[in-house]
Amino acid sequence: MKRNTEVGLFTKPSNLTISHTGKGAIVLPYLILHESYPFLTNVDGGESKSMTIEQAPLLKVNNIEVIYEHVILVLKGVSFNVYEGQIVSLLGANGAGKSTTLKAISNLVKAERGEVTKGTVEFDGKRVDKLFAPQLVKLGVIQVMEGRRTFEHLTVEDDLLTGAYTRGRDKKGIRDALDKVYQYFPRLKERRKAKTGYISGGEMQMCAIGRALMAKPRIMLLDEPSMGLAPLLVKEIFNIILRLNKEEKVGMLLAEQNAAMALNYAEYGYIMENGRVVLDGDAETLKDNADVREFYLGLTEVGKKSYRDVKHYHRRKRWLA
Ligand SMILES: Nc1ncnc2c1ncn2[C@@H]1O[C@H](COP(=O)(O)OP(=O)(O)OP(=O)(O)O)[C@@H](O)[C@H]1O
Ligand SMILES: [Mg+2]
Repeated sequence: MKRNTEVGLFTKPSNLTISHTGKGAIVLPYLILHESYPFLTNVDGGESKSMTIEQAPLLKVNNIEVIYEHVILVLKGVSFNVYEGQIVSLLGANGAGKSTTLKAISNLVKAERGEVTKGTVEFDGKRVDKLFAPQLVKLGVIQVMEGRRTFEHLTVEDDLLTGAYTRGRDKKGIRDALDKVYQYFPRLKERRKAKTGYISGGEMQMCAIGRALMAKPRIMLLDEPSMGLAPLLVKEIFNIILRLNKEEKVGMLLAEQNAAMALNYAEYGYIMENGRVVLDGDAETLKDNADVREFYLGLTEVGKKSYRDVKHYHRRKRWLA
């Protein structure tokens, strides 16, 4: 996917007026770049031309291959991008390779006797595929593991504090981060003295996201945050993910089986099957795609499909034809 940045090129750069309400502008000699506000004006009405420059992705995954146990080829050349400020969804059924993709990015496949055997991962324009997991955390690439793993014997607060382990003695920063977590998750504040072994599934998921927030994330890799949660809770968690994305400017890469939910929140989606990306597009386009509607959203023109109908999908799927 290309994401373009509008650029105004002015004939008389000394006479520029810039008015904007938000993000800073990048000012280069004779060239002003600004991502989202096309309101750069030339005060004396000098001629301006418009051109587009491709914005570099925050995370660029390029053709990665993963092999487990030296022989099991699981990812067969997966590529995708996440741009600054985006929520991107990786969708797919059981075993499609979503978790493996996230672990390949955060360099956790080795812990499961896996290896990234091909491809590259770039974060913020730099190769990061040779970095160790703690180095990635320091850069702000934070994985929220599937299954809401918590440290059962710790209290909620101590569990959250483990998320700040790369921040050294930055006591004030850590305190502020904890306050922020409690702002987003008031329920965790109420439960801060409870042992995580005794909190509910929803609270565990909140704890896992809160722990990631403690590490100053620039991008969160979220593995099935909806798993095992009741629909109302799923909505609550997704709304917080959206707020973190908008208010804290955290990019989100969201691996989900729950395509309906993910496509409501993500801007862009990639559909994985059998270790490959088979389809990608912006969320609205994917939601309108007949195959996505049928096989991932369980909808047809006549309404819901039964699993019996759906299970024959491999034979009829258009994008693999
Ligand atoms: N440690 C491992 N050793 C061997 N094979 C593995 C390992 N982990 C995953 N696999 C295999 O890799 C494939 C992809 O698994 P992965 O967990 O990435 O899929 P997924 O899309 O996350 O599925 P789910 O939705 O069930 O979580 C599966 O066939 C799985 O059996
Ligand atoms: Mg998974």
